Amino acid sequence: MSLIQIAEKASNIVILTGAGISRESGLHTFRDPDGIWATVNIEDVATPQAFRRDPERVHDFYNARRRQLLADSITPNPAHLALSKLQQSWPADVTLVTQNIDDLHERAGSTNVIHMHGELLKARCTSCEQTTSWTDDLSTYLPCRYCGLCGVMRPDVVWFGEMPMHMELIYTALRQSDLFLSIGTSGNVYPAAALVEIARQAGAHTVELNLEESLGASCFHEAIYGPATKVVTEYVNELLRRLSR
Ligand code: APR
Repeated sequence: MSLIQIAEKASNIVILTGAGISRESGLHTFRDPDGIWATVNIEDVATPQAFRRDPERVHDFYNARRRQLLADSITPNPAHLALSKLQQSWPADVTLVTQNIDDLHERAGSTNVIHMHGELLKARCTSCEQTTSWTDDLSTYLPCRYCGLCGVMRPDVVWFGEMPMHMELIYTALRQSDLFLSIGTSGNVYPAAALVEIARQAGAHTVELNLEESLGASCFHEAIYGPATKVVTEYVNELLRRLSR
């Protein structure tokens, strides 16, 4: 489907973002040479087993990331802002699904962001399952604000081996999508990496916008390579230009 057809049809859009979209805001990706998994082992900090074995170590890892996210220097970049503009201007549904646990889409003005891997600025009680906003450090002795039990709080993020969040919502949006954009993700982690296939089955035109070819590059109808601040901004501007013709 051409951009003109997509704009004329006022098509439903589903967007999947990954760590690459936040790279130019100053947050590291995971699998690039300078990525997070180059300096720390997944098995030490991002699995339920790691949390059972050494919860302080896991808290330290996420506390450092939370502090970095809340630093004054970390702000949404033009790619986040472009997607927010698209959501506000597009006449049909624009569903924004992110693997990112940062809140840069929200800070750019996006609403109803679906965080399939959870959120760094939320904590969850492992006893009563209540989630709550959280901007401070977490530790092994803090009490839950709801049930009062101590030592039960964990970051509200999805670890390897756990089920991603909101999958029914995501599949429903994909089944109604006409355009699927995958932005700044390497395609290493499932089920996120398979969302393109569901969009294709629904008849959507699928586009990868990434710095380089992802693992699933061949699954997309179209690919545009370059930094997110450039390629996403240009693609959104082009979509909106076609819409106003
Ligand atoms: N603009 C666009 N893309 C970029 C940029 C940039 N400025 N910088 C890097 N990229 C691309 C990289 O080329 C890479 O393909 O972003 C991708 C980032 O890939 P990953 O580091 O694997 O991040 P992501 O795909 O989001 O990881 C998925 O893995 O460890 C888990 O839970 C974590 O949600 C994360 C999941």
